[in-house]
Amino acid sequence: MSADGVDLKKRRTLTLATSAVGAVGTGFVIYPFLAAWGPSEKAKAAGAPVEADIGKLEPGQLMRVKWRGKPVWIVHRTEQNLQDLSGLDSILEDPASDDTGQQPDYCKNPERAIKGEYLVAVGICTHLGCSPTYRPEIAPEDLGPEWKGGFFCPCHGSKFDLAGRVYAGVPAPKNLEIPPYQYLSDTRILIGTDGGAA
Ligand code: FES
Repeated sequence: MSADGVDLKKRRTLTLATSAVGAVGTGFVIYPFLAAWGPSEKAKAAGAPVEADIGKLEPGQLMRVKWRGKPVWIVHRTEQNLQDLSGLDSILEDPASDDTGQQPDYCKNPERAIKGEYLVAVGICTHLGCSPTYRPEIAPEDLGPEWKGGFFCPCHGSKFDLAGRVYAGVPAPKNLEIPPYQYLSDTRILIGTDGGAA
C-alpha cells in the first residue's frame, strides 16, 4: 500500500488485466467488490451523487472516489487519530469550523463528520487547487514534532489535520471542503446529497 492508502485506480487496472487473460484467483475475488466502490460512467457524467463502499477500509487507510470531477477522500480514522484532533486548536486557523461555507451544518463538530471514524472531504487544497498528500505518520522529520497526521500540499506547503482543518500561517486560507453526504448503511456512503439534512 502506498502512503496515500488504497490506490483504487492501480488496483482496478491490475484486476481488469487479470480478468482479461482469464486468470483465476485474487483478481476474480476482488473485482466485484472494487467495482462496487466506483461510480458508474453515467453518474459521473451527470455529476450525480456517488456511492462508496467503506466496508473493507481499514483504520488508517484512505480511499478516493470522484464526485463532480473532484477527488473525494474517505479516511478511516483510528481511535488515536480522533484523540489527537482535540489537541491541535492552538495551531489551526479555524479549529471550530466557523466558516460555514466549508462544511454542511451537521459536520460542524470537532471531527467534521457524521461519524467520527470516517472523514469525508474534498481533496483539493483551498489555496490554489492542488491535491494534498495523505500523511498519516506522527511527527515525520519533514513535517515537524507537532504533526499528528493529516494532509500536506506539496505545491506551497499548506498543512491540514486529519479533519481537514487548515494550519494557521500557511498559504491555504480555509479548511478543506466537506461535501454533503449521508450513510445508506454502516458501510455505504452516498456523496453529493444528504437528503436535505443540511
Ligand atoms: S495549492 Fe496547496 S498550498 Fe498552494
